[in-house]
Amino acid sequence: MIPPRPQSGDAKGTLPRLIRAFRRDLLSGLPQRLYRGWMAEYRNPLIHSFFCNDPALIRLILQDRPGDFPKSDRLAEGLRPLLGDGVFITNGTQWARQRRIIDPAFEGGRLRQTFPAIWAAAGAMVDRLEPGETDIEPLCSHGAADVIFRALFSLPIEHHVAAQVFAAFRAHQAGQPLINLAALLPLPRWMPRPHSRRTRRTADRIRTLIRDLVQARLAAIAAGDPPDDLATKIMTTPDPQTGRSFDAAEMTDQVAVFFLAGHETGAAALAWALWLLAAHPDWQDRVAAEGAVLGCDFSAASRLPVTRAVFREALRLYPPVPMMVRAASRPETFRDRPVPPGAQLVVSPWHLHRHERLWDRPDAFDPGRWQTDAGKASARDAYLPFSAGPRACPGAGMAMLEGVVMLARITAAFRLSPGSRPPVPIARLTVRGRDGILIRLERRNGA
Ligand code: HEM
Repeated sequence: MIPPRPQSGDAKGTLPRLIRAFRRDLLSGLPQRLYRGWMAEYRNPLIHSFFCNDPALIRLILQDRPGDFPKSDRLAEGLRPLLGDGVFITNGTQWARQRRIIDPAFEGGRLRQTFPAIWAAAGAMVDRLEPGETDIEPLCSHGAADVIFRALFSLPIEHHVAAQVFAAFRAHQAGQPLINLAALLPLPRWMPRPHSRRTRRTADRIRTLIRDLVQARLAAIAAGDPPDDLATKIMTTPDPQTGRSFDAAEMTDQVAVFFLAGHETGAAALAWALWLLAAHPDWQDRVAAEGAVLGCDFSAASRLPVTRAVFREALRLYPPVPMMVRAASRPETFRDRPVPPGAQLVVSPWHLHRHERLWDRPDAFDPGRWQTDAGKASARDAYLPFSAGPRACPGAGMAMLEGVVMLARITAAFRLSPGSRPPVPIARLTVRGRDGILIRLERRNGA
């Protein structure tokens, strides 16, 4: 079965039509030629943007000269009430300092310490699932939030503060579903965003709850008995250049980032991967066979080749972060065209991962491609689920481990089949199903 690709429209026409099309759904609002072209320029009185599919341009923006292509102000503006000066939206020296403190917590060696949190959250997720048809998205959000809370603060999602943060995040996202795409929308800066007062209130609520968790952890660190988790590691890591650690306010910003960047993305990836397995029973059986013999063993979980290939393929077809936006800080020339300072540069994993000139059978679900030379070559040029370069996702290793363990354990316990309607991908905060993602679950023998 070929996974559905949204019917692309033609994002031309009057400005109000364009805005309406993008608001309905960014993926189908964009033209089909982005799946074949190397670059596309959009220009109207409010926004000037360049979609960059050319691997050489993407390398330039993300890897070779990232300092010349900072995250755009428009993006920061929309996310600041929730993320403060969190690492997701800062630039320059402030961003570099934040990464120096954060990165050690996510380095390869630390993954082993995070594994028990992932294992426990996967077990709790399997226990929550019931046979029958279900929208798997909210369950995946719950599971991914559980992973983040356990890994960061050693708290399961049932803990009253974790549950309150999760509920407040849901309310926040319901009010502001397009926030990270605001940078792409040709809206004037002065135009009030929908529900802005309400989302400010939910952002304040989330930040108050997180601040309390951070204060409690500072007290535990001062008392000398903090749990060994990501929060403790980050809060006790000094910047190697200045010797200074995060203060409580800075840590609150970063925790908001981890929660936002880590749980929505992980949830979207898992939901699409489960749906792809439901639609491809042959691959599902192979994943279930790996899951059936998996115990709580970090080394074994890091070596599940079929499950890993399936998860990578799901991240290719449904990259949770569909587009990344940067701004040109000085005049550039891209593919012989002048790019003025301030222009928006869009790197779109969604289009790149399905690019007809960069992938063989781009719309087909084929985890086997990850073992082939052609598949590996395509991936080198055109696979960016976690971005690339110095701003690449620090949580990538953790996210891969989480995805693989969740998939293996869920599939070992339940047989999955497609629900009564196929999902339609749309770009919200992440790539979600327009009407959810329906899957039918049936307990496997002995589960
Ligand atoms: C499947 C799961 C995930 C995916 C697909 C994903 C993807 C991404 C992508 C594409 C970016 C770059 C965004 C941009 O440059 O505009 C990013 C940044 C980031 N991610 Fe992830 N992510 C995932 C999970 C996580 C987790 C589990 C964490 C932490 C617990 C995390 C923390 C971050 C942070 C802090 C940044 C900002 C990095 C910076 O700007 O320097 N992510 N992620």
